[in-house]
Amino acid sequence: MTDLALRGATYTLVNDPFLNAAEDCVVYQSDGLILIRDGRISAVGDYAGLKDQLPEGIETRHYPDALLLPGFVDAHIHYPQVEIIGSYGAQLLEWLNKYTFPTEAGFNDPARARKIAEFFIAELLRNGTTSASVFCSSAPLSVDAIFEAAGARNMLILAGKMMMDSRAPANILDTPRTSYDDSKALIERWHKRGRRLYTVTPRFALTSSPQQLELAGALMREHSDVRLQSHISENLAEVARAAELYPARKHYTDIYDHYGLLDERAIYGHGIHLSEEELRRFHETGAKIAHCPTSNFFIGSGLFNIAATKDQARPVAVGLGTDVGGGTSFSMLQTMSEAYKMAQLRGISVTAAQSWYLATLGSAEALGIADRVGKLGAGYAADIIVLDPRATPLLALRADVAETLDELLFALMICADDRAIQATYVAGELVHERDSNA
Ligand code: GUN
Ligand code: ZN
Repeated sequence: MTDLALRGATYTLVNDPFLNAAEDCVVYQSDGLILIRDGRISAVGDYAGLKDQLPEGIETRHYPDALLLPGFVDAHIHYPQVEIIGSYGAQLLEWLNKYTFPTEAGFNDPARARKIAEFFIAELLRNGTTSASVFCSSAPLSVDAIFEAAGARNMLILAGKMMMDSRAPANILDTPRTSYDDSKALIERWHKRGRRLYTVTPRFALTSSPQQLELAGALMREHSDVRLQSHISENLAEVARAAELYPARKHYTDIYDHYGLLDERAIYGHGIHLSEEELRRFHETGAKIAHCPTSNFFIGSGLFNIAATKDQARPVAVGLGTDVGGGTSFSMLQTMSEAYKMAQLRGISVTAAQSWYLATLGSAEALGIADRVGKLGAGYAADIIVLDPRATPLLALRADVAETLDELLFALMICADDRAIQATYVAGELVHERDSNA
């Protein structure tokens, strides 16, 4: 791997600004320098202070008009749903039956899985997303396809085979035993191979039998460092159906809790309709939530309450997810914009620092990868984006009148999109450049 230095304004979160004073959370250098060695950041700081440490002959790329930031971390996304993004007119359960299950059946075909996996990884990088927690289809080969595509770019991707044995079309159902055996084989094949991490992925309580949830729990007990991802409390009809299917359980959270699926390695998409008692249980167990606002608006699921979730008295860790194809954009900038608007509808104004935290370090913390990505810091992976604050005429006009860094970052997260991602680096390699014709 080539050693490299990047020079420009640097901005990174180092702490959670929902729980700490903003000044203890943000590190900004108007003229910063990032030294990269063997794919990792070896030093980061003020250019004037660091320039004497530049090794002889090292290439320095200077981005005088841009912001250098940690790559975005998407805490929840479905790669086999790319082609159904923007599908009309249905709420969650109908949307799953009408659009989602049929498109996921296509991933029984390895050629289709490879083609969409390649597209998906390229689209993440075009949007400045360098890590993501990815739901595959129920076909094990769909996991092979995404891990192969991610590995070709040396990306830290978490992914898992959807476990689903009930209440969906036969061509995408597994059984408790095959889902266990296939997941175990995939863990052995992929977990910690390069930067890849395996995530046990029961779709949600509605498509799993008790036996399958039991075996998902067994996988988690048998593999102490794999993660778990699923869905919870996204839609009121879903919540009611979960109660019908699991009548012995106190509430939706108690279903997953009962089967050993609620701990600090677990992240659940949505959590819009969780009760105080359920949020307390998330806090106690250390389980996390992936907030997916573009999806919640689009599918009409409801308004997630970020302030209640991050309540200082019993905070629950939250990451930000696009939830494509229920979500409507790969752009974490657009997703931050919609998260802000959703909070506004609840009477809360999330700050710029809080929003950038959710999209980077917050998601990394929620996925258990914050020891290696989500921040610009020595020892962290050189997963870095170059953001152009003047990417469009409107952004340029707005940037010119921004009086503070916070104002600029806020306007960017509200108004910018993939056009503002000038370059994306993964493990110190340039993997996307907006203005190149390559
Ligand atoms: N709940 C269970 N499966 C899904 C899915 O694929 N997308 C969303 N948004 N919610 C789900
Ligand atoms: Zn989802």
